[in-house]
Amino acid sequence: MKILITGGTGYIGSHTAIELINQGHDVTIVDNLINSKKTVLEQITKLTGTKPKFYHVDLTNRTATNQIFQENHFDLVIHFAGLKAVAESVEKPLLYYRNNITGTINLLEAMQANQVNNFIFSSSATVYGNPGTPKYTENLPTGQNISSPYGKTKYMIEEIMKDAAASNPNFCAIALRYFNPIGNHPSGLLGENPNGIPNNLMPIITKVYRGQISKLSVYGHDYPTPDGTCRRDYIHVVDLAKGHLAAISVLKPGFEAYNLGTGQPASVLEIIHAFEKISDQPLPHKFAPRRPGDLPEFWADPTKAIKELNWHAKLTIDDAIRDTLTFINQS
Ligand code: NAD
Ligand code: WQD
Repeated sequence: MKILITGGTGYIGSHTAIELINQGHDVTIVDNLINSKKTVLEQITKLTGTKPKFYHVDLTNRTATNQIFQENHFDLVIHFAGLKAVAESVEKPLLYYRNNITGTINLLEAMQANQVNNFIFSSSATVYGNPGTPKYTENLPTGQNISSPYGKTKYMIEEIMKDAAASNPNFCAIALRYFNPIGNHPSGLLGENPNGIPNNLMPIITKVYRGQISKLSVYGHDYPTPDGTCRRDYIHVVDLAKGHLAAISVLKPGFEAYNLGTGQPASVLEIIHAFEKISDQPLPHKFAPRRPGDLPEFWADPTKAIKELNWHAKLTIDDAIRDTLTFINQS
């Protein structure tokens, strides 16, 4: 298949590009490089033997986005491009709505104008808001009590996808709702390397390990969880990337959503202890107040993906930490 990956030099997009190229797909990447580097293309080339075609384009530029579709005949678009920092989205909601929503509308319009009808979107567990149960199944209501503008953009884009599918009998749309991706390619050539200060747990842990941050703040240790710290469903990014491949095979007219998670939650302290064991070093940390907006715990019910996509997460948190250490020690 000829596939356009938006945000393909980013963390999850680049790992997915590798899996797709290795399965023989013809991959083109578009990215504005706001949160990634062009050198990622060289790493993808090293790991696959193929250099993907690249467009340095911002999806909020409607004309430039449309131009990409006029120059190529894609079978499928996998849409990763977006801003994703939860706290920043609270400070700059309009930036998030413009970038994520306008960018997606430009993309969908360009697809429609050029008869491209297959669409897979990077959604998030955040669309469930605060549903009152920690185990998320796809049939829970979405859009209620979402705490950040970032999360709302994910929900709104899913709604846009549903309406687009309802208006076009040929439009095949899948939302993949990711849980907490960690780890990187086992070669260590490619990893999570955000521009600026990281927000997520594992990139912060790696900064502490490297001595770039003195201590990890554990946000809250009085939650109603087994050890008092929050629990999340951490999924290896390579498993997540493979979930996209599996989703391609079930594309059909209409809208479908799938949770991509392991189904097993782990606490912040469990992650710290696993990191200490595998790195064979203490990871300096301290308890800090709860972070506003954090839920005590949630994890995926991955049953639908297991049954319909014939996919399940195979790698462990220890694998992810080992691969993260390989990446850190090489960069
Ligand atoms: P990332 O920031 O590494 O990758 C996103 C890429 O999109 C970056 O390379 C960035 O430069 C690019 N981009 C942003 N806005 C753009 C625009 N307007 N035009 C063109 N390119 C643009 O993030 P990631 O972790 O790889 O996430 C990929 C997708 O998955 C995002 O949509 C994110 O919201 C979603 N997601 C991520 C997580 C996570 O924890 N990493 C969890 C759930 C969902
Ligand atoms: C994980 C746990 C923190 C940093 C976010 C988005 C979600 C999705 C994934 C995109 C929490 C704790 C963290 C630190 C800590 N992204 N923590 N100290 O909040 O579960 O999910 O990223 O869609 O939408 O909300 O991930 O990695 O920020 O935090 O104690 O310095 O680590 O409190 O319990 P989160 P995270």
